[in-house]
Amino acid sequence: MERPKVIINSAMSADGKISSFEKRQVRISGQGDMDRVKLLRARSDAVMVGVGTVLSDDPGLRVKSSELRRMRKDRGLSEDPLRVVVDSRARTPPHAEVLGEGCILAVTREAPEGRLAMLRKKCEIVVAGEERVDLAELMTILKKKGVERLMVEGGATLNWSLVEAGLVDEISVFVGPMIIGGEGAPTLVDGPGFGGDFPRLELISAHLIDGGVLLRWRVLH
Ligand SMILES: NC(=O)c1ccc[n+]([C@@H]2O[C@H](COP(=O)([O-])OP(=O)(O)OC[C@H]3O[C@@H](n4cnc5c(N)ncnc54)[C@H](OP(=O)(O)O)[C@@H]3O)[C@@H](O)[C@H]2O)c1
Repeated sequence: MERPKVIINSAMSADGKISSFEKRQVRISGQGDMDRVKLLRARSDAVMVGVGTVLSDDPGLRVKSSELRRMRKDRGLSEDPLRVVVDSRARTPPHAEVLGEGCILAVTREAPEGRLAMLRKKCEIVVAGEERVDLAELMTILKKKGVERLMVEGGATLNWSLVEAGLVDEISVFVGPMIIGGEGAPTLVDGPGFGGDFPRLELISAHLIDGGVLLRWRVLH
């Protein structure tokens, strides 16, 4: 299947949580890691999140640094990468920060037309799948749009589906010096979990940064 290179990027606590049990955003990264994430975003053709992250964190997913925006422009690219929200039933709020020029809402054939009519004014709608967004089909669509490098910025459920579908090439995770705890708090990869045949990883690098460690893993297919 023709698809972009897919990199999951995340920050988690030492106990593997990516947010609190209330799904409240927690600042896990320090400045060094945040700068790295900004660069990774600026070097991507598209960034992707699940609608759960939009509802919890309302991220804008844009390149904020004027220097990085210039870098993209000099390379003949748009100043921001495409921003893709995986949202089966078009639950993205009409005033979500992610919406606007360069936003793609990936929905299913079951998405209510009323919501689509409202959101179509603020983003491009792409239909893939019946009950849940068919991620493999979405990858093919994104590739056709020229996306070679896709950065996934969470959350836990989308990460699970992508890993389970064998659609992830790399995982970059900053492990921060804190404990969040809570059995209901999202982890790097949630979903129902694997019963066996666990996906294997190969460590690419490990760096000490911001009092924690940045791990880069290659997913073995
Ligand atoms: N620390 C970090 O780096 C970081 C980064 C991002 C997010 N977060 C945290 O992660 C939490 C959100 O994670 P989450 O698991 O609740 O939500 P999520 O992974 O962002 O979004 C999941 C939602 O996407 C939709 N979806 C549609 N098709 C899908 C598919 N094929 N596979 C998976 N999902 C699909 C589903 O909703 P529908 O069925 O309605 O479409 C699903 O509930 C927040 O607390 C946020 O703060 C942390």
